Amino acid sequence: MTDLALANPCGTSTPNRLNPPPVRLPKLVQGVGFAVCRRRAMRYWIKRHGHIFEINVPFFGRSVVVSDPALVKSVCTANPEQLINVQPNLSNWFGPGSVFGLDGSRHRDRRRLLAPAFHGQSLKNHEKVIEDETLRECANWPEGKEFRILEPMNRITLNVILRTIFGADGPELEELREIVPPYMKLGQLLAFVPAPQHWVRRHSPWGKLDELRKGFDRIVFTLTDKADADPRLGERADILALLRRSTRDDGTGMSRSDICDELMTLIGAGHETTATALGWAFERLRRHPDVLAELVREVDEGGSDFRRATILELLRVRTVIDVAGRRVRAPAFDLGEWRIPHDRTVLVRIADLHENPEIFPHPERFDPYRFRGTRPAPHAWLAFGGGTHRCIGADFAIAEMDVVLRTVLQNFRIQTDAAADEKSYFRGIAHTPKLGGRVVVNRRT
Ligand code: HEM
Repeated sequence: MTDLALANPCGTSTPNRLNPPPVRLPKLVQGVGFAVCRRRAMRYWIKRHGHIFEINVPFFGRSVVVSDPALVKSVCTANPEQLINVQPNLSNWFGPGSVFGLDGSRHRDRRRLLAPAFHGQSLKNHEKVIEDETLRECANWPEGKEFRILEPMNRITLNVILRTIFGADGPELEELREIVPPYMKLGQLLAFVPAPQHWVRRHSPWGKLDELRKGFDRIVFTLTDKADADPRLGERADILALLRRSTRDDGTGMSRSDICDELMTLIGAGHETTATALGWAFERLRRHPDVLAELVREVDEGGSDFRRATILELLRVRTVIDVAGRRVRAPAFDLGEWRIPHDRTVLVRIADLHENPEIFPHPERFDPYRFRGTRPAPHAWLAFGGGTHRCIGADFAIAEMDVVLRTVLQNFRIQTDAAADEKSYFRGIAHTPKLGGRVVVNRRT
């Protein structure tokens, strides 16, 4: 049922717009649907209400959920005066200096500062690091014995991002390899939950998170001191050096705590997501011998087009981050025939957009051929979100997946069989293969 709202009481020529239809269930029930069985709840609500409706859930409050491609496009092309990043967002977890917490000109400046590290020649430079880390990790893989590939993928992507951020390896990175995984595991669960204050915080899971974070900051401070003392800082291409060299218009640089927040952001946002997508890659290839055979043939011939198409399809059919959020900053935001009031949350349902049969025929099929020789339509394929907050590491992630897949397929044969699909497991932010992407491999001779 739809409420008719007199959104234009002044009687100007703008047509009256409607409020999106609300889900009429107690807030707590909606919250459980959103947090615990989101995929099923969303499919049910879309069937009942269509591709735009309003839910009311803890933490985000009244939130308009959109998966209609034309409306999604309007959200992605809105300017920062109309929509800002969702509140709360991941700066809750990574800290106020994180790009997730910035909007307007501060956000734009930070993006400009970081962009060179993730595009063009920088990507080419990272390739060797990615290949080395993959070879190092898979040197001890068991042959002919099933194992979870998610953890090895996590180690590869963590090492890659640490080396991209800090440059050379060293004892400090060894310490970070110990700190980051538990910080990620716990942080994902707590990211959107309001933290308790004072001594309650100290004795709760947030206390553990604070302790890990203190360790991270201490190591980054040490690495920052080393970078400052490095006579070659000006030539260095790593992200710490980039941030250390940066100055604002008034000549001041980024504060140390903002640098810590931003580096934690890039590590946090940049490694588990990519590892999860790679986990899904092996989960799908085990069950699709035809796709696997085509990929191996292409790797042996030195090509990459089909692998690129496979990566796009993987990110569609097993969407890692299923939602991108915004908040209405303007007095109201007009979205098609709907009017969304100030301060309301807008959630773009990436996973449901990717399941739309009008855009992707037989959306449940893993079919890389649909992207062979063609790019996905903008605003219909949204694995990295869209608009001003679109993922800054999208090209980096695709390049990393490409090199990891290529290196593994060059060195290993993946056994295929008719095992049941792995279910999806929601870890708080990313949707991972429930059994960790179990595979059996043999070394190629
Ligand atoms: C397959 C891997 C990845 C996926 C699926 C993914 C997905 C996403 C999504 C959906 C968003 C939100 C976009 C929006 O709100 O419109 C995002 C934001 C972001 N991602 Fe990624 N990401 C991946 C890899 C990476 C990597 C490798 C990095 C960095 C090294 C990274 C850094 C970021 C940052 C910093 C943001 C916040 C951008 C902003 O608010 O301006 N991501 N990502």
